[in-house]
Amino acid sequence: MHEIAPTTARDHSVVFAPRIQDLLTRDGKVFRIDATTVGVSDCDLTARIVAARPVLSTERSVYKPAAGADIPHDSATRTIRALGQDVMAGIRTPPPPARGLSGGWPYAATSYLRRWLFASDPLPVSLLSKRGITRSDTLSRLVDRAVTAWPGSEAHGTSTVLAELIRGAAGTQERRQAIAMYRRATATLCDGVAALTGNALWLMGRTGRTGQPETDLTAALWETLRLLPPAWMLYRKGGGAYTGLHPEIRPEDNVALLPLLMHRHPDYWSDPLEFRPERWAGVADPEKTPGFMPFGFDGARCWAKHLVVPLAERLLTVALDHRLTIRAPRQDAPVPLRSLLSVRFEAEVGA
Ligand code: HEM
Repeated sequence: MHEIAPTTARDHSVVFAPRIQDLLTRDGKVFRIDATTVGVSDCDLTARIVAARPVLSTERSVYKPAAGADIPHDSATRTIRALGQDVMAGIRTPPPPARGLSGGWPYAATSYLRRWLFASDPLPVSLLSKRGITRSDTLSRLVDRAVTAWPGSEAHGTSTVLAELIRGAAGTQERRQAIAMYRRATATLCDGVAALTGNALWLMGRTGRTGQPETDLTAALWETLRLLPPAWMLYRKGGGAYTGLHPEIRPEDNVALLPLLMHRHPDYWSDPLEFRPERWAGVADPEKTPGFMPFGFDGARCWAKHLVVPLAERLLTVALDHRLTIRAPRQDAPVPLRSLLSVRFEAEVGA
């Protein structure tokens, strides 16, 4: 059996939740996880599975149905364009005070990003992305209703483009979908980038780049996307479209595609468990690397991938410039079982 779960204690060691750890110790690249789920970490088979059928609307995360209806394609593309404009504008504006990065990661970073990118939206729209609200279904519903009634006015002038999509919606149904899009897009962006940046900070070591100012942060982020990919498992319901592709997959099975395992497999990588950003030096398009799929494969590739790495790099730079230091744990940081894979730690700015 090959080793794809590190067991040695290093300064960036992690302790995966038992169910993730169990997957990491499985033999083979196609294996049964339970009575109705097959796990796949084989690169070619994954590509064929992703290409076999489009993602179902119910399998989507950002663009799953909202307000009782599918999201029309043109409204989906409008949302992603708006998010792109807002992220690029945010990257160019000065960040909030760095002390906001102190505290429990990745949550401190999630709140910080929301403040940085979306706090300029008028009330009640800005409440849609506030962490205290998004954690409660009841408060979320109340805010949704308030925004449907008062989506803001043109006079305000400081809205994000995403908020303007809410204000410009043609009717109540379109507005309710625009509200859901705003909430999901901001959450996916801030949670995903916070997870990626936190994972990078952990892998880079407790003291960031102190003493190594030449660290290539882009390469460090691609290497983080390999070893600790936030989107560590992609799920497909029903094996009907996949049964011909592998004998283990039956029509009634669900399929779990596992980038986390693929990215650590010795068939695809040399020194797979080593954090080595230099392996990406001179690689023009990391996503063309075989066995690497942090943003999915052709057929269901992430629409926001061009935003994620630049924003994470900007956040990482703010953290390192302000000497964000990991206080605890000293080693073996926990990685709980969540849809986004993220290392948990306590950090302090300028300590
Ligand atoms: C760190 C942040 C992110 C990561 C790691 C990530 C990763 C991924 C991955 C792995 C897939 C393939 C999913 C599959 O095949 O099942 C995907 C698809 C997708 N992502 Fe992202 N993503 C991130 C952020 C975002 C954001 C902010 C948005 C938009 C607001 C977004 C929109 C999409 C869309 C539209 C798809 C295509 C699937 C679909 O049609 O629904 N992603 N992403």
